[in-house]
Formats: sequence, structure tokens, C-alpha cells
Amino acid sequence: MKDLQELAAWLASRDTEHDPLRPTTLPDPTFISDGREFVSFSTNNYLALASSARVKARAAEGLQRFGVGNCESRLLGGNLEVYVALEAKLAAIKKKESALLFATGYLANLGVIPALVRSGQLARAYGYSPSTRWKHAFFSDEFNHLSIREGIRASGAPSFAYRHLDMDDLAGKLRASTAEIRIIITDGVFSQHGDIVPLPDMLALAEQYDAVVYIDDAHGTGVLGPTGAGTTEHFGIEDSRIIHMGTLSKAYGSIGGFVAVDEYVAGILRVSCPAYGFTSTIPPDQAYGLLEAIDMVVDEPERRIRLWENQRYFVRCMQEAGFTLSSTQTPIVPLHVGDEGACARLAGALRAEGVHVDAIMFPAIGPGDSRLRFIMNAHHTAEQIDHVVNLLSRLDVTRGTA
Ligand SMILES: Cc1ncc(COP(=O)(O)O)c(C=O)c1O
Repeated sequence: MKDLQELAAWLASRDTEHDPLRPTTLPDPTFISDGREFVSFSTNNYLALASSARVKARAAEGLQRFGVGNCESRLLGGNLEVYVALEAKLAAIKKKESALLFATGYLANLGVIPALVRSGQLARAYGYSPSTRWKHAFFSDEFNHLSIREGIRASGAPSFAYRHLDMDDLAGKLRASTAEIRIIITDGVFSQHGDIVPLPDMLALAEQYDAVVYIDDAHGTGVLGPTGAGTTEHFGIEDSRIIHMGTLSKAYGSIGGFVAVDEYVAGILRVSCPAYGFTSTIPPDQAYGLLEAIDMVVDEPERRIRLWENQRYFVRCMQEAGFTLSSTQTPIVPLHVGDEGACARLAGALRAEGVHVDAIMFPAIGPGDSRLRFIMNAHHTAEQIDHVVNLLSRLDVTRGTA
């Protein structure tokens, strides 16, 4: 393995690495690591549901009933009732007939995206002969999450990347395409940028070019919209062209991924998407906790209210301190740094003062486009926000030093 030894030595020589923290409590958003207290400005536990008393009590009920695992495929004996109940809840949130649960959001994209293209091919092994050999093509925002890009690659279908949020560029690419089945694919909220897809304009294009729209709403679900249902609710949109994808590992505070679709699509995916039927799903106690978390997003609206108050307060403080923020639309508020070494040094300087912020670098983002990704939380206090803005004001952001 000399190749890997050489690579490991090169990785170690870079000035962008630092030891991951080893938290002994969950960021909600304060946590303990190595005996010290930190406040996280990067946890996806937006609403602090993961360690809430209600979620823990419900998960404990699942734990008592089932233990820690499922140990069988949903397609065989592992189709526990709680998964069916969770899927029904997820389908209702996204106003679709059905939902399918996956072990993670990553796996949902990696499994479903190729299955949209390859389901017919797989069915041929069983004797199905399609009336037409459809030509598929993906139209993908250049900054879509890595799991989307991996899913598209695995599909084998051609993919056309359009400039970030640029609907004119998307229109040009749709116009030039000869594919019969066009799938526009986008993050709802962009995970490293914090901006929101212009969904009404995108759907107008989808209508014009008869395209499907696949929305990965990992960061919108639980956060956007009057009841926290996500990006479509934020825009007041319900559209049969949309395939919804989401994760359960962010605002809902647990683990898992899902798609919400029409029942005929769900029926096909259950048999044609190996990431659903040929791997295990989330443990039953997590599914119990999720049933509670999903209810809490709706019936404890004060959590979302506090999240957005904190977002507005942070943005205002940063702007008053002279920082230019590239996006202020959502609780993901990145501070662009550029140089990777400077970004890592900034994160290190903040950590030394008890503040954890993710330094986002290649391959999560393009080379030279690194950023500190602040994610606001319902449980942040004004003092914590003042503290991090004061710390940043004392640092040279372009060099990452004091
Ligand atoms: C936009 C987006 N899609 C998918 C995922 C994967 O989700 P999970 O962590 O649940 O696998 C993430 C997580 O980082 C994400 O940000």
C-alpha cells in the first residue's frame, strides 16, 4: 500500500488539518469535549430536538419494545410497523401519497437517483419489455450536495451542470437537450451556501420543458415554511412534478433519509432500489424518536421562532461588525474565507476560545472557496452570539490570524 502511505504523508503535511473534537455530550448547541465546554455554531441539530426530553422518552419506549436493531430487510421480515407509521408521517409533511425510508440521506440520494433511470433496465431481468427505450438526462446545480453528484454518476445518464441558481443557464441546457425524460435536481437549501433554490422559476421551466424536479431538502425540512415542512411550504408550492428527498439527521435530530413520491413511484422503488431493500434501515428506537421529533416541529413552534430570531440577530451583529455575508436567507450563514489554510486557522482560533465552527473546504466546496459555515440554533443565547462576533472581529479573516 505504498500509494496510500505516500498519500497519507501528503495529507499530514497540509496546514488545513486539525484534530476533530471528541465531544462527550451532544451539541444542543453547548457541549463538553476533553473536559471543556464549547458552543457549536455548526450543529445540524437546528431545533435542539436530538437530546430533548420528549424525543428521548419516545426513543426509550422503542428501545424497550425492540432493542437496538432490526436485523432484517424491509422486503423480508423487517418491515416493522413503526417504519410504516414514520413513512406515512413523512409523506403527509411533503403532501405526497407515499414515502420511503432509507438508512441515511446520503444513501437515499445514492440509491434513488440511479433507480429513477435504471428501474426499467432492472425489470427487464424479470421479463418486462418497455414500449420505448427512454433517454434520460439530469440537470444539476453545480453546487448540489456530493451525494446527489454521486447518485447521478451511478445512474450512468448524461448530466448537465448549470451555474448555481442560474435559471437562464438551466433554461438553455433544457432547451438544448434531446432527452425524453429530463430530471432537474437541486438542493432546497444549499448546504454549504445557505441560499434557497428559486423554486417557482424552476417549476415554470419544468412545466415548459416537461421536466421532473428532484429536491434534496436536507436543510429545509423542519426549518423552512410556516409549519417547518420545508422549501416547498416556504414557497407555498404543491406540484406533482416534484420528487421530495430529505434527511432525518438534521432538524429532526436523528438519522435516516427519505423520499416522498406518488405511490406508483414508491411501488417501483421498493423493488428496484437496492438501497431500500438490500440494506438495513434505521433502528426502531430512532424511528420512535423521529415520530416525536416530527410532531414537535409543529407543536413546539417556539423552537423555530427562536431559531429564526437567532439567525436575524447573528446576521445583524455580523453586518454591524463589518462582515460581508454571502447569504442570509437561512440559518446556514457562511463567512467566505477563500484560502484553506486561513480557514482552518480561523476555526482553530475560535476553538481555542470554546467556539466550534466548521471550516468547509474542498471537496465539500470548490478549491479556494473555503468558508466558515455558521449554523444557527434555537438554543443559542444572545451572549453566545455576541461572543463569537467579538472573537471574529479580533481576527484577520483573510489570513486566519489575530
Ligand atoms: C443537501 C444534503 N443532502 C444529503 C445529505 C446527507 O444526509 P445524511 O447526513 O442524512 O446522510 C446532506 C448531509 O450533509 C446534505 O447536506
